[in-house]
Amino acid sequence: MGAGRSVVLLPGDGIGPEVAAEAAAVLRQVAANAGLDLKIEEFPVGGAAIDAAGEPLPRATLDAARSADAVFLGAVGSPRHETVARDRRPEQALLGLRKGLGVYANLRPVKLHPVLAEASPLRPERVRGTDLLIVRELTGGIYFGAPRGIEGQGNGRVARNTMVYSVGEIRRIARVAFEAARGRRKKVTSVDKANILETSQLWREVVDEASREYPDVRLEHLYVDNAAMQILARPADFDVILTENMFGDILSDEAAMLAGGIGMLPSASLGEGPGLYEPVHGSAPDIAGRGVANPLAAILSAAMLLRHSLGLPAEAERVEAAVGRVLDAGARTADLARPGEAVLGTRDMGQRVRDALARVAA
Ligand code: IPM
Ligand code: MG
Repeated sequence: MGAGRSVVLLPGDGIGPEVAAEAAAVLRQVAANAGLDLKIEEFPVGGAAIDAAGEPLPRATLDAARSADAVFLGAVGSPRHETVARDRRPEQALLGLRKGLGVYANLRPVKLHPVLAEASPLRPERVRGTDLLIVRELTGGIYFGAPRGIEGQGNGRVARNTMVYSVGEIRRIARVAFEAARGRRKKVTSVDKANILETSQLWREVVDEASREYPDVRLEHLYVDNAAMQILARPADFDVILTENMFGDILSDEAAMLAGGIGMLPSASLGEGPGLYEPVHGSAPDIAGRGVANPLAAILSAAMLLRHSLGLPAEAERVEAAVGRVLDAGARTADLARPGEAVLGTRDMGQRVRDALARVAA
């Protein structure tokens, strides 16, 4: 094989280390099987980094991330650090990483594995056929806009955030959505609030313009409130959902419930440099350290890493197929199990996937 590849592993907080360990084990197995020289190096991030180095995103962590082929993050956020100033909270690490790596395109596939139809709080006949991709703009909008802050005194104390988008930012994320749609069912639903917000008016204008480069892809626009409703009413109708940073944050948690819950949702964040991969779920402090978290979102994120950063689409598909097989065989973590069903812990679920992977790869 040629030169080795490198992944920076950022386990983070709460259940992050538990699920990241399973994802890393899958990556190691794939690499061994494919004869790929893969180096996986760990760095602190989030609350864990505040404890170790006094800040959520230490310079050494960001530098290592920048020079890797890909970055895998478990989760950040810990109740112990919730009361500190905003710029020192664990979540800042995530925003700093996204901005620092320039990963403006966040892909969140929401695909219902058929046997999990019963695990959704929605009726199985309603969620059946759900296979959508949320393309969320990740480095702009109200998350990063200036001015921001809290100032003043008493009743006059004000807080301010700014939602701002440029044509360039909108155009590049729109193209990601149209390109993705080309490899799927060729439909893009752009979600905005153009009846109220100027940022959304510009968004709609630029998306319409970009769509002319993709005459083979159908484009529709929905207001975000209506989209929130339609996603529940007719989930199987959606293919690619294109939206700005905060709307995408909200809609992706909602959409997760169509596919067996947030424990099933992987993500890839892409830009010009290394990609950042993370399960969409948080650090879940309430179940941390108990070995009960669902590692499948992390493992499916590792599959996305193989596909988008290591150029191994066939290996990615094998990992996804292995996850499908263990679900078909009835393996369930606590979040997926129905009353009376046997429940596997994090490690056992990870092991089942690796066993299935060995068979799929053979
Ligand atoms: C997500 C998370 C993050 C976000 C938080 C942890 C900063 O909710 O990735 O969806 O809001 O983007
Ligand atoms: Mg979120």
